[in-house]
Amino acid sequence: MTIEPNSDDQTAEHEDASEDEGFSAGMSLKGSLREAMQAPPTVYEIVGGQRFFDELVDRFYDAVEDDPRLRPMYPRDMGPSRRRLAGFLAQYWGGPPHYSDERGHPRLRMRHMPFPIGLAEREAWMAHMTASLDAATIADGTDRPLPDEIRAAMFDHFDNAATHLINQPPE
Ligand code: HEM
Repeated sequence: MTIEPNSDDQTAEHEDASEDEGFSAGMSLKGSLREAMQAPPTVYEIVGGQRFFDELVDRFYDAVEDDPRLRPMYPRDMGPSRRRLAGFLAQYWGGPPHYSDERGHPRLRMRHMPFPIGLAEREAWMAHMTASLDAATIADGTDRPLPDEIRAAMFDHFDNAATHLINQPPE
């Protein structure tokens, strides 16, 4: 099992289109067939596909709905926000690129600039996501727990990305 997200660092700023190859790299048919036959399962496949990410994000946003610090940042209808985050995460962990088809390059730091994110907002966001991750099970109907190494890899991704998105100086 490899715990590797899609090769592109999707939280980084790649304003230069030439750096965006991870989203549009052409591959020869021969190359892609060979890779498909040898490819280990992706994290996306192991956790049960899109349903896993929908459930993770639903638990997370249910908590955000009740958080007086975070809730005001989000739009009144959080349905589209749920879909965007679940689509982004599914794509990041090896699922189909529906997020980028709809939204283009993630450019997460730029997209979070309208929202003041300091340490307190980062900690609140991480607390809800950590709780959701702790409650997560494989989405294949068996309710098996998430393997420790996958949980740890997802936690690290959230932890690093959340720090990267801080855009306010310390108080
Ligand atoms: C650090 C604390 C964070 C806060 C306060 C925060 C807040 C927000 C807000 C207010 C939005 C706009 C709602 C929407 O229209 O979707 C948003 C969007 C989004 N956030 Fe965060 N976020 C945080 C961390 C993260 C992290 C760590 C990730 C990814 C690992 C992430 C991924 C996203 C994505 C994918 C979107 C939708 C972007 C788009 O296509 O418009 N956020 N976030």
